[in-house]
Amino acid sequence: MKAVVWHGKHDVRVDEVPDPRIEEPTDAVVRITSTAICGSDLHLYSKLWPAMREGDIVGHEPMGIVEEVGRDVTHIRPGDRVVVPFNIACGSCFQCKADMHSQCETTQNKSVRKGASLFGYTHLYGAVPGGQAEFLRVPQAHFGPIKVPEGPPDTRFLYLSDVLPTSWQAVAYADVHPGGSVTVFGLGPIGQMCARIARHFGAERVVGIDQVPERLAMAQRHGVETVDFSTVDDITDALWAMTDGRGFDSVVDAVGMEAAGSLADSVLQAVKLQPDKLVALHNAMGVVRRGGTLSISGVYGGVFPAFPLGDIFDKQITIRMGQANVRRWVDDILPLLTDEDPLGVGDLTTHEVPLAEAPEYYKLFQEKRDGCIKVVLKP
Ligand SMILES: NC(=O)c1ccc[n+]([C@@H]2O[C@H](COP(=O)([O-])OP(=O)(O)OC[C@H]3O[C@@H](n4cnc5c(N)ncnc54)[C@H](O)[C@@H]3O)[C@@H](O)[C@H]2O)c1
Ligand SMILES: [Zn+2]
Ligand SMILES: [Zn+2]
Repeated sequence: MKAVVWHGKHDVRVDEVPDPRIEEPTDAVVRITSTAICGSDLHLYSKLWPAMREGDIVGHEPMGIVEEVGRDVTHIRPGDRVVVPFNIACGSCFQCKADMHSQCETTQNKSVRKGASLFGYTHLYGAVPGGQAEFLRVPQAHFGPIKVPEGPPDTRFLYLSDVLPTSWQAVAYADVHPGGSVTVFGLGPIGQMCARIARHFGAERVVGIDQVPERLAMAQRHGVETVDFSTVDDITDALWAMTDGRGFDSVVDAVGMEAAGSLADSVLQAVKLQPDKLVALHNAMGVVRRGGTLSISGVYGGVFPAFPLGDIFDKQITIRMGQANVRRWVDDILPLLTDEDPLGVGDLTTHEVPLAEAPEYYKLFQEKRDGCIKVVLKP
């Protein structure tokens, strides 16, 4: 079969690889019909690091048609249309019973002290072949795959694999409440949906921050106030001024390690005083009101020097974070994936292209060219 394979920094290729097959009674094999590129894939794409090895199949936002199931898989059968959550979870361990599927004790990567295995996401998270491929072996398929109705286009349901539950969790963790105020840093697919879900939760004021014109415009179309951080001297000061010096009740960091920052940030990274691009996280911590909540859905890895613990303590901020526990939120989200489309999910996909074109669309997505916000690959 054909699959998107990691070869090195800025080098993914569509290679011919062996077809996957059932290996365990709890496996399924799914024929992929749509599979999206995620901002998290850019973390793998944009650097050379030992957790990725040449030949790894990437991708963790797939859906398709069940081809075959192992004998312990009973809730789905061949021919069913399913979305596959990006985390691989057993559904019955201590953590899964507590709805913490991203910490599943059955698939945890204990030797490297990491959480549950993820599709297509490094040798720290199980080295599981990913979903940007014609076929996908789904481990723990007695629990993971979500059966969805026939009829509507794939893009109606595809984002249940990651974007929608991640954004829902980010908003829930940010303690967004009716009448509250919310800032979302980053208006990629995750930030877009965070802003819309925050409105759905009844927030009175939702402000989105980015610098990419079409991303700011997309948020505005959905009733979100926006600030282009590249046009203000100090984004923290600008946001404080918007709340008469109080700050925001809830703040979501939907940027993560690829944050664009100042020259000073790049210099600090170059001399290894700052391991990654933390500017969005620092800004997000800066604009939470005293006693407010910060929710980090952008992905961070590693150890951070210069973490402003004293400020966080003084402001009595609550911080929550982590990979989405996909299955935890599916029952909340599925009823909203209707023809009325209250979350505007139909508006998210900007590019739908054949799997064979993955290399050029990784590049396009990373460089944010051609209005690219979300790419769906069609095997
Ligand atoms: N927690 C989870 O389970 C989970 C799941 C999916 C994605 N993620 C993470 O969420 C983040 C966003 O994902 P995405 O697909 O929307 O990615 P994306 O790269 O499309 O979006 C990031 C956005 O942040 C903007 N940005 C960059 N620097 C900024 C700054 N300093 N201030 C404000 N905005 C800035 C960029 O212009 C871009 O629009 C990524 O870090 C991704 O890894 C986490
Ligand atoms: Zn993703
Ligand atoms: Zn489990």
